[in-house]
Amino acid sequence: MVEFALPKNSRPTAGKSWPKPEGARNLREFRVYRWNPEDGQNPRVDSYFVNMDDCGPMVLDAILWIKSNIDPTLTFRRSCREGICGSCAMNIDGTNTLACTKDLTSISGAVSIYPLPHMKVVKDLVPDLTGFYAQHASIEPWLKTDTPSPEKEWGQSPEDRTKLDGLYECILCACCSTSCPSYWWNGDRYLGPAALLQAYRWLSDSRDESTGERLDFLEDPFRLYRCHTIMNCAKACPKGLNPAKAIAQIKNMMVARQA
Ligand code: SF4
Ligand code: SF4
Ligand code: FES
Repeated sequence: MVEFALPKNSRPTAGKSWPKPEGARNLREFRVYRWNPEDGQNPRVDSYFVNMDDCGPMVLDAILWIKSNIDPTLTFRRSCREGICGSCAMNIDGTNTLACTKDLTSISGAVSIYPLPHMKVVKDLVPDLTGFYAQHASIEPWLKTDTPSPEKEWGQSPEDRTKLDGLYECILCACCSTSCPSYWWNGDRYLGPAALLQAYRWLSDSRDESTGERLDFLEDPFRLYRCHTIMNCAKACPKGLNPAKAIAQIKNMMVARQA
């Protein structure tokens, strides 16, 4: 039987347990993945204790509390704290989600926090999303037309605009792609649910005139057809979107154009 094991230098070790804040009565434990590419050490999982009487309700509040009050070296991304920018995506309590919208009361016991799985780590909770963004760029996420531009703007009926609902709301957080087993194993060639949801967003746009070209690009055993409808992507999406459904619609378009 094939055995899978992490290379020795990437196996997380038991980390440091940081001192509890003095005088705090309402403590909560956070076990956080730490890795610094500059110290030559293995990744480790540190324990921090947060004074919940002094901390906001979301996981991001606790991480910010740790950074401000215990350990300024803890590294993570965040910007909007409103579930809009997608930058605080991480694996919390075993699920990919946004730290800023993940309510601490929805988790029982100690809170485990890791970077998004199966991506290279830049440092601590920051994944390397270079390839993920390149895949998004590869589907050419903009309006492509041949007819000359109208004087004012490209018109769209309310009915056609509705067809973009459930697609345009994607914030490119990567929670879906990094929860997809097909993407884990073939992330260099399979575009993954996030990029494919966006591909379908442009295929669905009544103003776009590049449908044939876009489908030609996706007609590939890896780019599109590595999706095996496992549905992890729809489960993971913190915006309630359904990339698996969008991928199925692209496959339908492929079949329809051969008919
Ligand atoms: S449905 Fe497709 S894209 Fe979504 S998790 Fe499964 S294999 Fe990945
Ligand atoms: S589809 Fe959802 S999970 Fe995937 S990148 Fe977009 S917002 Fe994030
Ligand atoms: S900080 Fe922007 S989505 Fe969480």
